[in-house]
Amino acid sequence: PELTRSQGVLWVSAEDGRIKGYDWGVKDDASFQSFLSSHGWSDGSGSGSTQVQVVKSDDSQNEFFFPGFIDTHIHAPQFPNLGLFGSNQLLEWLNEYTYPIEASFGSKSDPNNTQTNPNDAPPLGLREYDEVIARTLSHGTTTASYFATIHVAATNALAALCQRHGQRAFIGRVCMDNKDQCPSYYVDESAEEGFNATKSTIDYIHSIDPNGTLIKPIITPRFAPSCSNESLDGLGQLAASYDPPLHIQTHIAETTSEVELVQQLFPESSSYADVYDKAHLLTNRTILAHGIHLTKEEWALIVKRGSAVAHCPASNSALGSGLAPVRAMLEAGVTVGLGTDVAGGYSTSILEVARQASLVSRLLSYSAEYLALIGNTTAEGTDGHEKLSPDDVLYLATRGGAQVVHMADDIGGFDTGMIWDAQLIELGAVQNKTISPLPAKPLKSLVSRAAAESATVGNIDLFGNETWQEQIQKWMWSGDDRNVKNVWVQGKLVHTRS
Ligand code: GUN
Ligand code: FE
Repeated sequence: PELTRSQGVLWVSAEDGRIKGYDWGVKDDASFQSFLSSHGWSDGSGSGSTQVQVVKSDDSQNEFFFPGFIDTHIHAPQFPNLGLFGSNQLLEWLNEYTYPIEASFGSKSDPNNTQTNPNDAPPLGLREYDEVIARTLSHGTTTASYFATIHVAATNALAALCQRHGQRAFIGRVCMDNKDQCPSYYVDESAEEGFNATKSTIDYIHSIDPNGTLIKPIITPRFAPSCSNESLDGLGQLAASYDPPLHIQTHIAETTSEVELVQQLFPESSSYADVYDKAHLLTNRTILAHGIHLTKEEWALIVKRGSAVAHCPASNSALGSGLAPVRAMLEAGVTVGLGTDVAGGYSTSILEVARQASLVSRLLSYSAEYLALIGNTTAEGTDGHEKLSPDDVLYLATRGGAQVVHMADDIGGFDTGMIWDAQLIELGAVQNKTISPLPAKPLKSLVSRAAAESATVGNIDLFGNETWQEQIQKWMWSGDDRNVKNVWVQGKLVHTRS
């Protein structure tokens, strides 16, 4: 929908963190003060007898609230590898970079990963997990669906750290038991060992957040090639055995060689999506990462089951996996959100992923695979409507992501009754900055002045007198964590820009 901007006040319950109401008549400090006293409230974060928090942006500072970003697909243990992908394609990259870093989050001397209380002794990976949570929060990510590793202790630690930071999170202990496809140093001994370890992380997460207010477990078969049929079937059953059923996440159709491998490994299945469907892993709480090379028949199956796709364009371009036809998927009824896919993706920022989603959509018409899909023979033949606008990608980053994690009534927007998961964006204003006078020698000085400014100013100061729509476009294309002033989850302030 059309983005609009107006000044006003919004209030949030200090009890459940939900939005209780708005008042658009509050235009300045004086009317804000009289608004507060008319309700018997005080400024700031609902102290004393106040049952609400009043949150207010400062329009003179070019600030606005935006729903928190939802990262529907991120690998927390791969964070130390950010930017390491070379020229590898997926399957080589997994062996060269990914499995080794993930394996380092547990030790072979604790093969059963029996250490379940992260307070007993520091599990491996604590520092890295702490950093990835802090970093994603600083980019405005209020909800993340994390893949951890096969290790119970480190997975539980990730859950505990998300709770400590106050980030909403789905935490998945990765299952991978196919010894032919996984390295010997990083594999479940058996499907059964995978189930037991997974149950242990589920129990732990339910013990630290019994109502699932902030942290929820998510069943995580890595992807079809790394799992036996027994493991896939068992994980489908495990998810369904809970009330409500547990969320599920995995990868699908990321590269064409992966699709071919799945055809070889699962000859009895009619498609990649069918492998998961046969195991009852396609549910209305299932997140399928990538989905670049799915067929229209697979889209239809995914829609029928109510499953959703995590679009990860930064990763897909980095690993050369392909261009996902997002508009066509949306038009087929597929639910789509955005994922960083750290560290196939090189950035922890969903804003970066949003612009990559827009860029990829603008290149789609040059893809032979896309032209074949839409029954066109030349790029000129497409009408360009596959291009995603800033509004489109910001929608995917928020409301779309909320649908993907099955929380569309609660997060991703600011409707009354929704949870206050939000970021305060500050754009900065050019007119408020002093610009040093031009030095005497114009030609040379213009060059050095431009160099000096680009070195020190940064995009935060690029905002001037544009319309609201233009400011949003500039933020989408050039913003970063410097623009994220505050972040709230469940009504609680969880990050302030330092
Ligand atoms: N497919 C299986 N495992 C992975 C992974 O860790 N990252 C990505 N991008 N794809 C995968
Ligand atoms: Fe991934």
